[in-house]
Amino acid sequence: MRVLKTEADLGAHLPPGGVLVPTMGALHAGHLALVKRGVQAVRTAQTACVVSIFVNPTQFNDPKDMAAYPRTLDADLAACRDCGATDVFVPEIDVIYPMEREPLAPELPAVATEPKLEDAFRPGHFLGVCQVVWRLFELTRPSVAVFGEKDWQQLRAVTAMSESMGLPVRILGVPTVRESDGLAMSSRNRHLGESDRKTALGLYRALLESQGVASVDAAEAHMRKLMTNAGVEVEYAAIRDARTLTKRPGQSDGPFRAFVAGRVGPTRLLDNMEWS
Ligand code: PAJ
Repeated sequence: MRVLKTEADLGAHLPPGGVLVPTMGALHAGHLALVKRGVQAVRTAQTACVVSIFVNPTQFNDPKDMAAYPRTLDADLAACRDCGATDVFVPEIDVIYPMEREPLAPELPAVATEPKLEDAFRPGHFLGVCQVVWRLFELTRPSVAVFGEKDWQQLRAVTAMSESMGLPVRILGVPTVRESDGLAMSSRNRHLGESDRKTALGLYRALLESQGVASVDAAEAHMRKLMTNAGVEVEYAAIRDARTLTKRPGQSDGPFRAFVAGRVGPTRLLDNMEWS
C-alpha cells in the first residue's frame, strides 16, 4: 500500500479511473465497510482504491470541534492496509487549498440548502464538504467515489453536485454500520461516557419506533418524544422524501427516510433510516 502526500505523488503513482473513499480518519468499522466496498469494486477493474484522510477545516462550524477531532493515523494506515486499499492519500492543507489559487466555489444543490436539516444546524458545512470533495475528485480523478448512508444528506448533496456539474464520477452509497445494540458507528461515539452512551441509543430507538406510525406528524412527534425522554437534546426529527429531503409523505410517492439529530451531553449525533 502506498502512502501519497502531494499532487506530484498522485501524478506519479495514481492512475485515473479508480475508486476514492474520502474520510477524515479516526477510522472505525463504518469507514472500513466503505473501504471494503471500494476494494471490491476495483478488484475486477484492476485499478486503484485510494482512501483519503484529511480533516477538512472548511466544513467545521466550530474551530474547537476541529481541534478536538481524533487523529489516529498509524492505526488508520494499518486498517486500510488490512482491508486491501492500494493507496492512502494524506495531504497537508496546502495540497487541498493551495495558497496561489482561490478555493473552489461549488454551486450548492438544493438538497444541501433547503431541507433545514444539517444545513440549518451546521451553516456553511455543506459548502465545506462540497469544496473538499470536488478538490479530492480533481486531484485523484476517480470513476467511483464511496460515501456512507450514515450521512444521508451529505451522500445526496455530493451525488447532486456531481450530477449537476457533470463530473465523471459515480457515487456509491454504503449502508450504515451499527454497534450490536444499534447505535450508528461514529468517530464522535468515543466522546460518550457510560451514561451518555445509553442516552445515545435514543436516536436509534426513535428511528425504529417511527416505523409504521399512521401519520407523519404523529411519527415525527413520537420520535421527538422518545429522544427527549431518553435525555437527548433534540435538534430535528423529520420524515422526508429520501431523494429531495424536502418533500414529506403525501407530497411525494417516496421512498422516504426518517432523520434525527441531537446533542447527548456535549456530543452531537445524527442518524437516519428508511421509513415506511
Ligand atoms: P467522515 O466523518 O470521516 O466519514 C467518512 C465516510 O464514512 C462518510 O462517507 C461517512 O458517511 C461514512 N461513515 C461514517 N460512519 C459510518 C457508519 N457508521 N456506517 C457507514 N458509513 C459511515 O464524512 C466525512 O468524513 C467528511 O464530510 C468527508 C466526506 C470526508 C469530507 O471531508
